[in-house]
Amino acid sequence: MRTVYVNGEYLPENEATVSIFDRGFLFADGVYEVTSVLDGKLIDFPGHATRLQRSLDELEMANPVTAEELLAIHRELVARNDVGDGLVYLQITRGAADRDFAYPADATPTIVLFTQAKPGLADNPVAKTGIKVISIPDRRWGRRDIKTVQLLYPSMGKMAAKAEGADDAWMVEDGAVTEGTSNNAYIVKGNTIVTRHLGEEILHGITRAAVLRLAAEAQMKVEERSFTIEEARAADEAFVTSASTFVMPVVEIDGTPVGQGTPGPVAARLREIYLDESRKTAL
Ligand code: PDD
Repeated sequence: MRTVYVNGEYLPENEATVSIFDRGFLFADGVYEVTSVLDGKLIDFPGHATRLQRSLDELEMANPVTAEELLAIHRELVARNDVGDGLVYLQITRGAADRDFAYPADATPTIVLFTQAKPGLADNPVAKTGIKVISIPDRRWGRRDIKTVQLLYPSMGKMAAKAEGADDAWMVEDGAVTEGTSNNAYIVKGNTIVTRHLGEEILHGITRAAVLRLAAEAQMKVEERSFTIEEARAADEAFVTSASTFVMPVVEIDGTPVGQGTPGPVAARLREIYLDESRKTAL
């Protein structure tokens, strides 16, 4: 049985509880982070901690732990659960209060962390074959730069993809791709990598930031701008990035093969560089 962390305590998962009045439960009034673990070490931890603080600040929510405590809790959970490869999920909500739309003045934030073991995470065989995506309208709220726990529309998107025999969905707004249901979206044309510019329309992916920096260091050309599904279908390559998938090739969009319909060299190279570099800086 896993050991999880809730509000200052390490407990067996079946003994950890949160109030039914928790605003995370009643209003999705909470934020989260997912940090991957390779060889027992945390990947891109400072980036996730920084984005967590930004999400909290945007929602005027208190952070119940310091950055040092947060790192210590992550490490302790990885150690207690003997996680080699996997993920640490972290959620902070505004806490429990009598139900009222206005933020309560005196609620104590709730903090929960748990691990998910994923042996062989970096050697996921899907990276060799790629994933298929469909496009769907982006019907999420407008502050997607805040990593809130309101994930129902992305869940619906994944289900729509599954129903069509695909793996994931890319969301489209005003004719342009925003991002995947739980990842950032990219295309490659010639020697140029294209991914949507930052703004309130997408999550500012931590993996995205690292991959774009590494691509620039490797003298690859990067354009941060909108692109359409038509442009993506005509691209040489496509891929997504996230903490849980790193760099994952996309080989089909709405039934059209991308390039040769097999993972391309740019995605493969970026995956390798990203994994190498992030293992070196893992904590
Ligand atoms: N999802 N865009 C969305 C909508 C996401 O939910 C995520 C991450 C990303 C990629 O961000 P990062 O590189 O920081 O993981 C982009 C996580 C992994 C999840 O919900 O499980």
